[in-house]
Amino acid sequence: MTAPIAYFNGELLPLDQIHISPLDRGFIFGDGAYEVVPVYGGKLLRGREHFERLARSLTELRITNPHTVDGWIGEVERLLAHHPGNQSVYIHVTRGVPPKRDHVMPAGLQPTVFMMANPLSTPSKEAVEKGVACVTAKDFRWEKCHIKSVSLLGNVLARQISADAGATETILFRDGHLTEAAASNVFIVKAGVVLAAPQDNHILLGITYELLQHLARDGHLRFEVRPILEAEVLGADEIWLTSSSKEVLAVTTLDGKPVGAGVPGPLFQRMHTLFQDYKARLERAPAAA
Ligand SMILES: Cc1ncc(COP(=O)(O)O)c(C=O)c1O
Repeated sequence: MTAPIAYFNGELLPLDQIHISPLDRGFIFGDGAYEVVPVYGGKLLRGREHFERLARSLTELRITNPHTVDGWIGEVERLLAHHPGNQSVYIHVTRGVPPKRDHVMPAGLQPTVFMMANPLSTPSKEAVEKGVACVTAKDFRWEKCHIKSVSLLGNVLARQISADAGATETILFRDGHLTEAAASNVFIVKAGVVLAAPQDNHILLGITYELLQHLARDGHLRFEVRPILEAEVLGADEIWLTSSSKEVLAVTTLDGKPVGAGVPGPLFQRMHTLFQDYKARLERAPAAA
């Protein structure tokens, strides 16, 4: 089988022909940022927002952004010409390849850009209808979780806690407050209000999180962003996960105990419908000029 076409520093190549230097700062230090953009029927879901977030991550890391938002979208479209249909595009930018290993950021490096596209796998019908299991853990990650850094060891260790327990995600608490999950944002429902954790350095502000905020407003759901106590999560009526690949999913057991009635709740049903309607509108929309 021939390797799929991927993107490396402006070139489209079979994935198995891409070679990365061992001195690349991404390999040596995890020194880079990334994005994952879902694509439905060839249309990027909130593509601009993804590349605006990439720009913010690169600015924080003091890595030169090699493209404008429009430039990024153009490069992704070149790759997508080889990958029709629903895709998940992974975009990875590192500081580049210095002549030697040194923690200090070398000036004037050309960033390394790698992209690949894989068929998008959205949650199964069963996961949507029955909800998923999660476990809780202490948030032991660093203080800059708002950067979408390729250094994901904290998230990898956190995710493995739920993988070992046969669960979908690990919901994290820092100093008695909800932050997010290993690779998703977390929402709870309390007395008819959707609650989301503050958009600060302790979470990655998901593009899906922001989309939910818009959809809640348009769908007249009560939505509040505020610090959420661990006890509020443990006693929530509903808990949801969001991410570019999970869309919005209900959590129906937490640490083995049912969440609310133990089935996806009424506000989840409403939000899931709003999300699916948004996707359907995106797919029907004319292609951008
Ligand atoms: C730690 C973390 N939080 C939140 C998210 C959700 O972000 P998005 O909705 O942009 O996919 C992700 C996605 O990968 C993540 O890794």
